[in-house]
Amino acid sequence: MEHLYGKLSGYAEGDIYPYHMPGHKRRSWGELPEAMYRMDITEIEDFDNLHQPEGILLKLQREAARLYGAEESHYLVNGSTCGILSAVSSAIPFGGHILMARNCHKSAYHAAYLRHLKVSYLYSDCLAAYGIWDAVKPEQVRRALEAAEDIRAVLIVSPTYEGRIADVSEIAGIVHAKGIPLIVDEAHGAHLGLAEGFPKNSCQAGADLVIHSVHKTLPALTQTALLHVNGDLVDRDRLRRFLRIYQSSSPSYLLMAGIDNALEYVRRQGKTAFGQFLQRYEKMTEVLKGCRCLQILSGSRREQDVGKLVVSPGRSGITGKRLSDILLNEYHLQTEMSSKNFVLAMFTLNDGEEAYRRMTEALLEIDDRLSERNAGEIFSRGRTGYAAYQGQDFTEDGKLISLWKAWDMEGEEVALESSIGKYAAEFVNLYPPGVPLLAPGERMTEGLYREILEDLEAGLTVQGIRVEAGKERLPRGIFIKMIHA
Ligand SMILES: Cc1ncc(COP(=O)(O)O)c(C=O)c1O
Repeated sequence: MEHLYGKLSGYAEGDIYPYHMPGHKRRSWGELPEAMYRMDITEIEDFDNLHQPEGILLKLQREAARLYGAEESHYLVNGSTCGILSAVSSAIPFGGHILMARNCHKSAYHAAYLRHLKVSYLYSDCLAAYGIWDAVKPEQVRRALEAAEDIRAVLIVSPTYEGRIADVSEIAGIVHAKGIPLIVDEAHGAHLGLAEGFPKNSCQAGADLVIHSVHKTLPALTQTALLHVNGDLVDRDRLRRFLRIYQSSSPSYLLMAGIDNALEYVRRQGKTAFGQFLQRYEKMTEVLKGCRCLQILSGSRREQDVGKLVVSPGRSGITGKRLSDILLNEYHLQTEMSSKNFVLAMFTLNDGEEAYRRMTEALLEIDDRLSERNAGEIFSRGRTGYAAYQGQDFTEDGKLISLWKAWDMEGEEVALESSIGKYAAEFVNLYPPGVPLLAPGERMTEGLYREILEDLEAGLTVQGIRVEAGKERLPRGIFIKMIHA
């Protein structure tokens, strides 16, 4: 089969002169390598068009569908973000009702805003030791669907950012019994269902729309993603319309060649590479279970994703952020993210033995050091996790304020301490993972207020608030935009 990367490098070696965009004219400018520019083309003769694919891109998308077990797949160059925007927009009519997990990525909230959706949330359980959301359970979906007749689609996240996996097959059955589509944000699961030993992906499990960030867990360039379609509950023309709206009209061929390249790597070497990945990862987690202080989030492969190593500092008294600083500064290991309660390190097909050895040795050594110290001496960990915001009210004068309405309302900046009881005018996100702590129209609670202070104190990035740094260690002023009462 013809591949985009081969076609691009063949073209780069030829003598055709570009009287067209991009403006770099396939020549290197500045410091970036020449090879990148030589392959960066636009929709020229014989290279097809992502928005109306008829040639090589259509073939590659069909191959992607075959690989994942979907009826139709779309290459995405604006990340899973544009896949989620398109999926939600096409599956639910303007102003319709969506049932979505409260731990959805911010792009799901943005879709609800743009399409004026009524939103009901699925609040999954909190894994208290780590302060993270578990995946949504089938029973929660069943109950929520029984409680509201007018829901037009369900959106869940699996695996979650921290690797929690939902029982998508059972959830799909429950959702389909209502005659509505299930959308799965599987941004963190592009590696699922491709080899023995890994759980099914959500296409194989019966979801209607599935979004994969190829760049997150497979060897592909940042921004690359896929959107898969199954069944007839979603109008595919509408879906293509929204993809045209949310995707660039100049999709990068470098990015698309990167998707092709990653999927071909899986086809050719996946069996060996996935096998090794599984074996190395499980060996590491087995050894780390012996830690006296640090705790590793575990579970069966159907519950906890292979590759997402979530480490809690346990009873050591240090924060997850402090643990990640130690890993970076003393061991030169850069983790994916850290919160008050844990550190998240990611492993993929592309990690060799060294990645596992260095992380294992570092954590074992840190565990020894921590076990010998007095608990609580470096930082005292917060009591709340980012599940502290469950069960918010959404009412004003007894009426529900929709997210989209609240985000367009007049807001005023107030000191964080006087925001308790008021409604948010902006999103407040802990970044990463980009799941809103507070969405527009949600009420600030005492618990959430303390959570934000603790996050800031732990050195985490909280988006949507303004901090005026003071002279002392603690910030002098923290401000947040709340709806003008
Ligand atoms: C659960 C989840 N969904 C979607 C996204 C968006 O993915 P992308 O960065 O590919 O747009 C993210 C990004 O971190 C995510 O964590």
